[in-house]
Amino acid sequence: MKITVHTIRELKGERPIVALTAYDTIMATLASNANIDLILVGDSVGTTYLGFDTTLPVTLDMMLHHTACVARAKPRSLLVADVPFPEVHLGTERLLRVCSRLFQEGGAEAVKVEGGQSVAPKVRALVDAGMPVLGHIGLLPQQFYALGGYRKVGAKEEEREILLRDAKALQDAGAFAIVGEMIAGEIAGEIADTVDIPMIGIGCGIKCDGQILVTPDLLGMTLGKVPGFVKKFAHLQEVISSAFVEYAEEVRSKRYPE
Ligand code: KIV
Repeated sequence: MKITVHTIRELKGERPIVALTAYDTIMATLASNANIDLILVGDSVGTTYLGFDTTLPVTLDMMLHHTACVARAKPRSLLVADVPFPEVHLGTERLLRVCSRLFQEGGAEAVKVEGGQSVAPKVRALVDAGMPVLGHIGLLPQQFYALGGYRKVGAKEEEREILLRDAKALQDAGAFAIVGEMIAGEIAGEIADTVDIPMIGIGCGIKCDGQILVTPDLLGMTLGKVPGFVKKFAHLQEVISSAFVEYAEEVRSKRYPE
């Protein structure tokens, strides 16, 4: 059965939602076949596959390209596309146009925007136009330079209050679910208990309504450091490297092709 935004909402309280990122047709097909509930075409494509240091250089054209690659897999999972920096801040009409393209040309079934109370009116405009929105609070990677780096949030009382207000504002604006990134575990749990929509965590501990991970991280493919909360469910870097070495050896020694 195809997963829709309604399925995701209804899963709250039933069982944990399982989400991951994908940026191409192969990974999207494998994720869908593994019954992953939600596939996010994250702007993390920039840091994982495109060689950027942050997600900020990722453009709408890049997101359209990767979203369309994932859509061609016709996944059973809900397909969500990230709205790239700085589109959410450039006016509602422009945002509506940008997101329409993610739906029409990319094949997205929902969009994700980073931000809480400040973006809530834009979330409302998208939802009113028939474009379902996944919110994103806590650590906002698109604010990398403003934050001065990536760090856990929510431990201070004033941060906790802001996060709770952010989550409620997104719920009131019509978001169907929220991603919480690197929020202190107790606070993430409090947010999940406070809102009626699912709170899907990444680096937020076990008290959320679901989990999302960046796929190359969980597959052990990411070059360089991965966040401490990531569990590597496979070690594909080693597998791929040894396949390349074996191929090179067999070609050079004329054992392949036979
Ligand atoms: O871009 C991305 O992959 C994300 C996840 C970290 C949730 O936003």
